Amino acid sequence: MNDNDNDNDNEKERSRDQLLNEIAERKRVEEALQDSEEKYRILVENSRQGIMVLQDGRLQFANPRVVQHSGYSLTELMSRPFLELVHPEDRVMVAERYEKRLKGEATPEVYEFRFIDKQNQVQWVEVNSVRITWNGRPATLSFLSDINERKRTEQTLRESESKYRSLVNQSLHGIVISQGVPPRFVFANPAMAEILGYSREELMSLPAEKTRDLVHPDDLVVFFQRYQERLEGGNPPPSYVVRAVRKDGTVRWTEMVSNRIEYNGEPAVQAVFQDITERKKAEVDRIQNYENLTRVMNQTINALVRTLGKRDPYTSTHQQRVTRLACAIAKEMGQPSDQIECIRVAGTLHDIGKIYVPAEILSKPTSLTKAEFEIIKTHAQGGSEILQEIDFPWPIAKIISQHHEKMDGSGYPSGLKGEDILLEARILTVADVVEAMSSHRPYRPALGIEAALDDITKNKRILYDPAVVDACLNLFRDRGYIFDQI
Ligand SMILES: [Fe+2]
Ligand SMILES: [Fe+2]
Repeated sequence: MNDNDNDNDNEKERSRDQLLNEIAERKRVEEALQDSEEKYRILVENSRQGIMVLQDGRLQFANPRVVQHSGYSLTELMSRPFLELVHPEDRVMVAERYEKRLKGEATPEVYEFRFIDKQNQVQWVEVNSVRITWNGRPATLSFLSDINERKRTEQTLRESESKYRSLVNQSLHGIVISQGVPPRFVFANPAMAEILGYSREELMSLPAEKTRDLVHPDDLVVFFQRYQERLEGGNPPPSYVVRAVRKDGTVRWTEMVSNRIEYNGEPAVQAVFQDITERKKAEVDRIQNYENLTRVMNQTINALVRTLGKRDPYTSTHQQRVTRLACAIAKEMGQPSDQIECIRVAGTLHDIGKIYVPAEILSKPTSLTKAEFEIIKTHAQGGSEILQEIDFPWPIAKIISQHHEKMDGSGYPSGLKGEDILLEARILTVADVVEAMSSHRPYRPALGIEAALDDITKNKRILYDPAVVDACLNLFRDRGYIFDQI
């Protein structure tokens, strides 16, 4: 063996090693490739997103998610033009974008479209597409996300928003949303514009410092204090009456309900205004009518009293003094003002029935005979009959018929007992007897207030209501009540 032979052997060995190394290397590369391909396959097959490749208008590849979402088999999907699956209304848009993308022209990468699944249901998807090379030719690779749920939510929101929008726009109540101090309108509905006499645009472009012109000067301080307090998270009264000043300067009464909200991420105050001007007017009219009626009633009562006074001045004075004392007793007993007013009217007229009693009996300077006293006694029922046709807001005729009844049933004309006698009549009885005893009568001099108070004390519970007697005694003993000289 010469040197040449040795060299050749060495060369062959190196080539074999090299070849083996190359084979091993290629195998490693192949294995790595297979490994990598396997990983991508797992990713693609398990993706929650649909993944598809479109070429020549047909699907070249679709992952299981596309198959599942569409309801078609892979063969069915690949055997027809892709556009046939697209909702007819979206076909032109999808086709245009596909063509442009293939040509490399600018077109949105992410957009939404609808396709029709095998059950003929509309399916919303969001697609993210890019241009790729597939088997050496241009194609598109698209990732599809199911956005049905989002679309349904959007639809519900749109419907709900449109419902509220029409409620707000058609509401007869003014609705505004204001922000900042001083307030600036960020929203006003048509009714609010109507109440204030401005257009909605004018209201919403009104500078903040001008909003104070919309509130009556007398309501300004309270209105803005409450607005600011509410905006800052305080809790002022949510509802109150405020006067608005219209563009033409006229004033409208409104009832306002407001609450704090978030609007465009900022604190705001939402307020609902109801125009109550007509209601206010009706209220004023009603009060005026009531006052007119009360005035006419009092004038009528006074006319009656004056008629009696012309014939019998003593009784006229007596009625006035009894009325004052009876009202003071009722007040002392804590009776409500309406009941005191009732007692005032009943007291003023309580002896009106004496108009039927002959003047010579009323002014007789000596003691009355039994027969004369019987005639006098008719005045309670007589007075009641005169007044029973008048629709007083209180039972005046009944009270007058009972003003000589006594707690033990010994009074007249009906011999009523205890609480069968109206409280107003029980009060009048005590005021009547105290006034009568303490005053001069044609047939006797005054007995004096002490004798009168002794009498009611002695006959408390027997003839007179004890609560009324106590109130009367309090007035004279503790409050220094004295009869006016009329
Ligand atoms: Fe009387
Ligand atoms: Fe009397």
